Amino acid sequence: MSAALEIRGLNKSFGALPVASDVSLALEPGARHALIGPNGSGKTTLVNLITGALAPDSGKVMLNGRDITSLSQARRVRRGLARTFQINQLFAGLTVLENVLLAIAERSGTAHKLWRRASRDSAVTGEAYALLEQLRIHDDALKVTGELPYGHQRLVEIAITLGLDPKVLLLDEPAAGIPSAESHLILDAIAALPDSIAVLIIEHDMDVVFRFAHRISVLVSGTIMREGSPGEIAADEEVRAVYLGEERNG
Ligand SMILES: Nc1ncnc2c1ncn2[C@@H]1O[C@H](COP(=O)(O)OP(=O)(O)O)[C@@H](O)[C@H]1O
Ligand SMILES: [Mg+2]
Repeated sequence: MSAALEIRGLNKSFGALPVASDVSLALEPGARHALIGPNGSGKTTLVNLITGALAPDSGKVMLNGRDITSLSQARRVRRGLARTFQINQLFAGLTVLENVLLAIAERSGTAHKLWRRASRDSAVTGEAYALLEQLRIHDDALKVTGELPYGHQRLVEIAITLGLDPKVLLLDEPAAGIPSAESHLILDAIAALPDSIAVLIIEHDMDVVFRFAHRISVLVSGTIMREGSPGEIAADEEVRAVYLGEERNG
């Protein structure tokens, strides 16, 4: 069986600064994989290389065994690769339900044509409501997205992403910036993601990482210095020295 996502020998430099050096990583279907590493080690850059927001200098990105390295971001989304949107990409003036309906329409690549039909189509509306229920924000369905508390807006982002029906989901610090009283909402939503989706999460709360992930890769200065089970990573002296012993990391 092909990996859901496979990165082979990715290299990327910003000028003289190497931010990805021969990075390889594979996620099986349904994987729960965490990418950890000190602030500035290249985690977000790696996500950008996977989604196509950045082009690598060399190396390959494969989705379901197919080379997607030269595809646009939008085409990768349609092939089943999604990341959480930033909040400023939410349509703040639309309701929560409208945002999710748009995502479901976007999946087919004809959002503008389907939009009117989708908003009337009860099957699509049913799918959107089911997603909102799954994330426990169905009470917000008819509220204006931009007026919701920040944590709820982040849940709307996750609902939108799930509306794209991804096979691989990239989560870059999904609880960042959320008041701690609300962060459990996000962590519960992530814990309840369907097994059909392979998840790569970047997270600096090690309690979250060790609870969620089955595999962990440690990125240091653009290089994967270690990959292993949570037990192996926790016991690794070198990892502890560069990362786990530190108080705060990004
Ligand atoms: N567009 C860019 N141009 C130049 N340097 C960048 C750019 N984006 C990130 N960097 C640098 O690349 C390194 C890795 O950044 P990043 O991938 O954001 O790290 P992380 O997410 O692990 O904190 C940092 O030194 C950062 O300053
Ligand atoms: Mg980052």
